[in-house]
Amino acid sequence: MYKFALQKTNMSVHREDKKITTHVLHEMKSRGEKISMLTAYDYSTATIIDDAGIDVILVGDSASNVMAGHETTLPITLDQMIYHASSVVRGVNRALVVVDLPFGSYQGNSKEALNSTIRIMKESGAHAIKMEGGEEIIESIKRILTAGVPVMGHLGLTPQSIYKFGTYTVRATENDEAEKLLRDSKLLEEAGCFALVLEKIPAELAKRVADTVSIPVIGIGAGSGVDGQVLVVHDMLGITKQFNPRFLRRYLNLYDEIKGAVQQYITDVKSVDFPNDKEKY
Ligand code: KIV
Repeated sequence: MYKFALQKTNMSVHREDKKITTHVLHEMKSRGEKISMLTAYDYSTATIIDDAGIDVILVGDSASNVMAGHETTLPITLDQMIYHASSVVRGVNRALVVVDLPFGSYQGNSKEALNSTIRIMKESGAHAIKMEGGEEIIESIKRILTAGVPVMGHLGLTPQSIYKFGTYTVRATENDEAEKLLRDSKLLEEAGCFALVLEKIPAELAKRVADTVSIPVIGIGAGSGVDGQVLVVHDMLGITKQFNPRFLRRYLNLYDEIKGAVQQYITDVKSVDFPNDKEKY
């Protein structure tokens, strides 16, 4: 379990202190340097992963699942996203902080989308927002970009549409959906999105998109032919035990580590081993 963390320490971690901007991400794509991205929802985690050298931190609406215990990402509110995002921003020195616009805060019309974005930017201090969808939301994306806010797109498996899909299985395996995904990727690039997340689609299709568009393409379950990778931090640290998709690599088994530590604490309290003479005043 721990071998990845140990082997890779000090090897290929980008440790320059230069702040990551959307421009830096474009430079990374141009020189073929892969972009690392993880989610975070709180100050302490953001501090650790920023200090480790992560390039992009996503305050994902996956907070709805891993922080709040909901089955889908739909229930999380704009106020809750702002709370998570402002906590993350306080912990970050270097990474670019991107915040998901939650379900229901942008699908109505472009004015609603812009108002939600302005609240996130003003109240959290984040650097960019992410939105799920292509052609259907292109007017909203353009309006937000006109206001000067960088937008990251998100295509493929878009969890806010889970009730339309009916399942979390791999997307765009059929020609029609793959063609639409290619068209949407071009549309997002032309509209001015600074990057694009592709979730759970065939690796070959994801590579085709990354080779076609000039903006960085970040994959999750989209193979290695893209410009970077993103994972949910609770998944890669092994806090979420039940979630085991093929694309997930676990770098720790924190569920068992934390459970073991808590069990030891309970034993120590009950046996009055804790606190000892050195741990009292
Ligand atoms: O909300 C999230 O964590 C995401 C990633 C899975 C890309 O959108």
